[in-house]
Amino acid sequence: MNEESIESTLHEERLFPPLAEFSAQARIPDRATLDSLAQAANEDLEGFWATQACAEITWHKPFKTVLDSTNPPHYQWFSDGELNVSYNCLDRHLREKADKIAIIFEGEPGDITTFTYHQLHQRVSRFANVLKAQGVTEGDRVVIYLPMVPEAVIAMLACARIGAIHSVVFGGFSAESLKDRIEDAKAKLLITADGGHRGGRIVELKAAANRALKEGCESIQHVIVLQRTGHEVDMTEGRDLWWHEAEAKADGNCEPVWLNAEHPLFLLYTSGSTGKPKGIQHASGGYLLGALTTMKWVFDIRDEDIFWCTADVGWVTGHSYVAYGPLAAGATIVMYEGTPTFPDPGRFWKICQDHGVTIFYTAPTAIRALMKYGDDIPASYNLSQLRLLGTVGEPINPEAWMWYHRVIGGERCPIVDTWWQTETGVHMIAPIPGAVPTKPGSCTLPLPGINAAVVDEKGHPITTPDRGGYLVITKPWPSMLRTIWGDDQRYYDTYWSKFGSQYYLTGDSARRDKDGYFWIMGRTDDVLNVSGHRLGTMEIESALVAYPKVAEAAVVGRPDDIKGEAILAYVILKGTRPTRGADKTLTEELRAWVGDQIGPIAKPDEIRFVDSLPKTRSGKIMRRLLRTIARGETITQDTSTLESEAILPQLQGKE
Ligand code: WTA
Repeated sequence: MNEESIESTLHEERLFPPLAEFSAQARIPDRATLDSLAQAANEDLEGFWATQACAEITWHKPFKTVLDSTNPPHYQWFSDGELNVSYNCLDRHLREKADKIAIIFEGEPGDITTFTYHQLHQRVSRFANVLKAQGVTEGDRVVIYLPMVPEAVIAMLACARIGAIHSVVFGGFSAESLKDRIEDAKAKLLITADGGHRGGRIVELKAAANRALKEGCESIQHVIVLQRTGHEVDMTEGRDLWWHEAEAKADGNCEPVWLNAEHPLFLLYTSGSTGKPKGIQHASGGYLLGALTTMKWVFDIRDEDIFWCTADVGWVTGHSYVAYGPLAAGATIVMYEGTPTFPDPGRFWKICQDHGVTIFYTAPTAIRALMKYGDDIPASYNLSQLRLLGTVGEPINPEAWMWYHRVIGGERCPIVDTWWQTETGVHMIAPIPGAVPTKPGSCTLPLPGINAAVVDEKGHPITTPDRGGYLVITKPWPSMLRTIWGDDQRYYDTYWSKFGSQYYLTGDSARRDKDGYFWIMGRTDDVLNVSGHRLGTMEIESALVAYPKVAEAAVVGRPDDIKGEAILAYVILKGTRPTRGADKTLTEELRAWVGDQIGPIAKPDEIRFVDSLPKTRSGKIMRRLLRTIARGETITQDTSTLESEAILPQLQGKE
């Protein structure tokens, strides 16, 4: 960002106070209760988190130190306490909840399996013994490259049980990405499967794993292979073993290893804007605490809830809200293997109906994709069990929020728009559903104990409402990342250099409105500068998506002699794509609309109608690629994730 702050062009005035019926039963039922929590945290941050940590976590050895900030930015939490995360997710529930369903799994082909807490405990203990038999011990890294099946969670918890550090690699990643991650983590063991079901096809995980191991990955000693699809795969004698065979031989008892609260629980690689992926390293105690408190505060989790977070375990959302958070809270989760549109775009709603999902958490990209198919499909399923909805991953466009609210939530379910990052571990800024009125597109207010601010270039808080700036976290929090695996320097440079080791730099831009609500404007490198006005791409996109004919939009800048930057919008329509030449009227309609909604400054200079947009595996629009294309530069990015290469000419405006 330059000296000036970012101008906000999104003016959203709709306000949705919590419904009385919801609040009456909520864990945090009103603003006064929330304010008293927040006040306790403001007065004594350490005391506040210590109280939470004692209440939420079962400690083997209680901690005496709360926050150790002797070596910033290497903050430590509860560092003399001992616990085991798998014990907290399983063993401690056995007395009262042994027969409660922990996981309801639905495979893409339609197979359904359930696990009670007792059964899950058994499977995890057995598999932990399998790991031990392969020589895995405390501190070793284990890479998990599995489809979205219960065994992925079992493998994670088994690692946690013996103190091995897992690193889950999303099953959609290529052999090359897998290899990079294995090598960076110097993993000893790889856990994969013969395949997984996605979009009606089989994802060839073992084949990709074989390719990765052929070219390097010397640290890997063994590969454990889960049988999921049953089709033929190449096994290497002496190196590879079948999960079911190993598990059949293993003992069902495995005492948890008591670990220091700072013991690394997992690494999770995220791609930075440049360079190789960063191994975000999380600790055990603080992370678990954040996962538990947010399950209670933000998801208002109750014993009878059926909780479905649609994220893959390969993402942080899957770590915190498929595996650790809900299981530590003793909840029942739904896990689904496949895509939202297989065999048809009603699949998500059918799963909600069939399993009686009460809390549903997904990404704006999924909402926009399903919204495109209209209201009739969700209307044909019974979604009356739903009581709370959530979103994560990107700013949600207000119109997508309204659709989610109206069509999926039947205007009765609060929507929690949760802002957080792989690095933050858990939710940071999000509404407390029984207490905080929501506004479509705003993640509302920081959670108790979380100190967030919007600051200018010099690090001074921006006090003018709606002026955008850098989103920073001004005090340490328990679930924060501890470092980048093996690269402390990169940890300092990325997060703690711009404003020193005082403020954690999120990399996002945001503004606060007159009520103090936070509005995320996107990554700081996604800001346009049009004739000296700094505009958030996200807000122009939201204006476009608010036009009835538009399903999705991505806006990027390209250099312009006169304006500094010109605005190029890629637009997906709800109907068919107009061919080049036939799109002039629509382009004018859209330009006029954006002019009305935001102002003439934000009118796109060019609109390209496309069938799809390039997305990362986690569903974020690949803006850097779009920028390259918009500038007519040679494409250096990996385009293998595009739904079809055929859209390239469309993106380039050649078709
Ligand atoms: C973006 C996902 C707006 C943001 C948990 C952040 C969001 C990045 C939201 C982290 C939200 C996530 N509103 N933007 N509710 N949630 N983001 O590491 O830019 O995959 O920095 O973690 O996603 O993505 P990550």
